[in-house]
Order: sequence, then C-alpha cells, then structure tokens
Amino acid sequence: MEKFRISGGRPLRGRIGISGAKNSALPCMAASLLTPETVTLHNIPYVRDIITQRRLLEDLGSTVLTPELRTNKITASNIELFEAPYELVKTMRASVLALGPLLARFGKAKVSLPGGCAIGTRPIDLHLTAFQALGAEVSLEAGDVVARAPSGGRLRGSEVRFDKVTVTGTENLMMAAALAVGTTKLHNAAREPEITDLAELLNKMGARVRGAGTPTITIEGVEALGGAEHTIIPDRIETGTFLVAAAITKGELEIYNCRPEHLAIVIAKLREVGVLIEEVNQSTLRVSCCPKGLTARDVETEPHPRFPTDMQAQYMALMTQAEGKSVITETIFENRFMHASEMQRMGARIQIEAHRATVEGATVLTGARVQASDLRASASLVLAGLAAEGETIIDRVYHIDRGYEKIEDKLRSVGAEIERLRDSITTPLNAPEQAVAAEIA
Ligand code: UD1
Repeated sequence: MEKFRISGGRPLRGRIGISGAKNSALPCMAASLLTPETVTLHNIPYVRDIITQRRLLEDLGSTVLTPELRTNKITASNIELFEAPYELVKTMRASVLALGPLLARFGKAKVSLPGGCAIGTRPIDLHLTAFQALGAEVSLEAGDVVARAPSGGRLRGSEVRFDKVTVTGTENLMMAAALAVGTTKLHNAAREPEITDLAELLNKMGARVRGAGTPTITIEGVEALGGAEHTIIPDRIETGTFLVAAAITKGELEIYNCRPEHLAIVIAKLREVGVLIEEVNQSTLRVSCCPKGLTARDVETEPHPRFPTDMQAQYMALMTQAEGKSVITETIFENRFMHASEMQRMGARIQIEAHRATVEGATVLTGARVQASDLRASASLVLAGLAAEGETIIDRVYHIDRGYEKIEDKLRSVGAEIERLRDSITTPLNAPEQAVAAEIA
C-alpha cells in the first residue's frame, strides 16, 4: 500500500495550476453514452476515478481515444452491454451515472446497487424514484438495480421533485430526460457548477436544457443527440485545497487555471478567518497568510452555493491552526469526520458529537503515522502534515489518487517536502483497482 512521507513546517511558495474537475468529467464522460457520435472532452484530470470511468465505458462497448493526455474522444456507437458491474460500482460510486444515459438511449440498464462507503450510507433511492416518475420500471434483482423504459422504449417527460438535493441524482435525470418524449421539470435540483457544465455539454450535443444552476431545471426531450466538443471546468475543490495549503503553511501561492466564482463561499470563509486572497484575474488567485494570524470561525456544510462538504475536512485541518473554538457542522453525510481522530493523533484538539465537530486552536501539530479513509480526508491529512512539526506518514494514499492529479508533484514544485513511498508489503487490491493502480503508476 502506498504512503506519503511529509516533513512539515515549510511555507509553500510559487505557482500551482488547477486540473479539470473530476466531478464534472465523470458525468460528462457518462453523457457520451447518449449518442453514437463522438464526444470530445478536454481538460480531463488524470486521476484514478477517471480511469475507472473510462474502463466502464470501454466495458460497455465505447471506444475511448486519448490523442493527448487530458483529451478523451469517446464514441458509443457499439454498445453491447447495459450494465455497470459491482466490481466497478464498489470502487467508484459515480458509476451509477451510466444508468440515466443507458436507460434513455437503449431503454434498459442494470447497475449494481452501491453499498455504504467510508463516509456513510449513500443510497440512490432518489435517482430511482425520479426514473419511475419518467415511466421507468425499476426492480432490484440480486443486488442489481434493473431499470426499463416503458413500452415503446422511451422515457416520458414528467415533473420530478427531489426530496433532498442530490448532485449525481440531478445529473442522472438531466441525461435521462434529454432523450425522453416530452418535457421534464426537475425541482429542488442541485446547483453545483458541475451541473451547469454537464448541461452545457448536453446542449452542445443538441439537448434542450434550461435553468441549470438554479433549483428548477427544465429539459425538453429530443429524439437523438449528436457529437460535441467540450472543455471541463477547473476543479473547485482542488483549488480550495491549495488555498488552505498556502494558509496552513503560512506561505504564498498563485493558483492559476481556476474559476474563483465557483468557490465564492470558500474564499469568503477563508477571508473571514484571516487568509489573504486576491483575485489577480478571472482565473488566478493569489493567497497568503496571515498578518494577524488565523481566527476560528464556525462552518456548516450545505449544498451549493453554500459551503461544500468536500472542503469540510481541509477546513478542519486549517481550524487546528486558528485561535479559538470553531464548530464544524456536517449536514450532507453522516459519517464524514474520520479524519478528526487521525488529526487528534497529531495533537489536534477536536471533539465530535454526532454531526458536529468542535476544534480548539491553535495547536502545534506534530508529525505522526496516520491513515487516510476517503478522498477528502486524505487531502486534509496532507494539509495537517504540511503544517506539522516533524515527519508524517500517511497510509492508504490510493484514496487521494482517486481525485487529486499528482498532488505530491504539485506540492513539491512549491517547496513541500513530500514523497510517495511504495511498500513491499501490499494489501491486496481488487481487480479493477489493480488495473487502475498499474495505469496511474
Ligand atoms: C456528489 C459528489 C461528492 C460530493 C457530494 C455532495 C460526484 C461524483 N460526487 O456525490 O464529491 O461530496 O455530491 O456535494 O459528483 N442521497 C439520498 N438518496 C439518493 C441520493 C443522495 O439519500 O438517492 C443523500 C446522500 O446520502 C447524501 C445527500 O443526499 O446525504 C447528498 O448526496 P449527493 O448529492 O447525491 O452526493 P453524490 O452525488 O453521491
């Protein structure tokens, strides 16, 4: 199992470029299943989840060409299989994004039901109820969700009200409704920038999607979609993570190829705690820390445009370095504080009560051996390690490879002392993980 070794206490200085957003690339890749023509996507990040998604598309029968490292040309003209198997869904929950496009174009789809994951139970009931509203028959067969379009093979446009805001649920339904007969209205839709990015791609393919980025999205179904070319937006969570990296190491970074308006609330919160952030231009931020030190401030995670759950762990790392008490409330996932106990091992003072964490700062963190439990938790431990005195070893960094492109190279280029250790004793990975690990190595 690979590890990171970090020698902390070095201020980061220099420039870091932001990669494409994984959470936008995944649904855009799935959208290629809606057409037999070629969909060309640029600015695809080179991370493990993308390789998994590519494998899924290829298993289904798509051809994926990579004329350049970050460009995928995907053609789904020969789809022979209509299912996302358990091995892939358990490695990456976003495989469920195949469901909407397959159901819409071929009238049938089977996806293994995702189980729990490290951050809690993550059902897809809202996706399924919404497909039923569009006329699909949905059944559970031996752990798989099997969905069929009504007779005639096409879904029917309908009113859908999500009981809870769901990002991949909104994306799945936008894709399904794009080829339905009639108009679909999605109420209480997610408003994340990744939703707007997918809508843009769908519209380039000939879909009629309006209102993406607002709570009500209207999709007028069309008979067929065509090929398109699209550039994926920059990753707002990677941007936020590097903003915190500069602040927590008392360094100064210029972060380019980003979209500051996609993380307005994160920037506002960081400014509130004392981080200096300057918008150099529409795609560049300069961040430095902090003439008067950091002041603790509470935060609550909520759907976009409020504070993202995907920045909660990194914010907690920062709060260990802020003066005073901060209360961090997690409202999206029930079990997303696993990084807290690892930070405690580094000397952080954190108390967890249900979905609330109270951090008392500022503490001097000291290097320790810690374990990553999920993607964003791993990022927060890297940040804590960069701020800590001495050496931190982070185990199970395959989690971070799912969503951050070469994070250790980017951090090293701005002065961090971080290296990847390859172990001789490895915990066995399952087959798709092994394939992906081999490809990313
Ligand atoms: C997406 C992001 C993930 C981010 C999350 C919340 C991708 C690939 N992943 O995940 O990085 O942390 O949004 O911003 O884009 N829920 C249900 N039933 C459902 C669907 C969701 O109860 O059918 C619940 C979930 O358990 C969770 C909440 O709704 O409590 C939000 O989940 P959702 O927005 O669906 O998260 P994902 O789309 O899986």
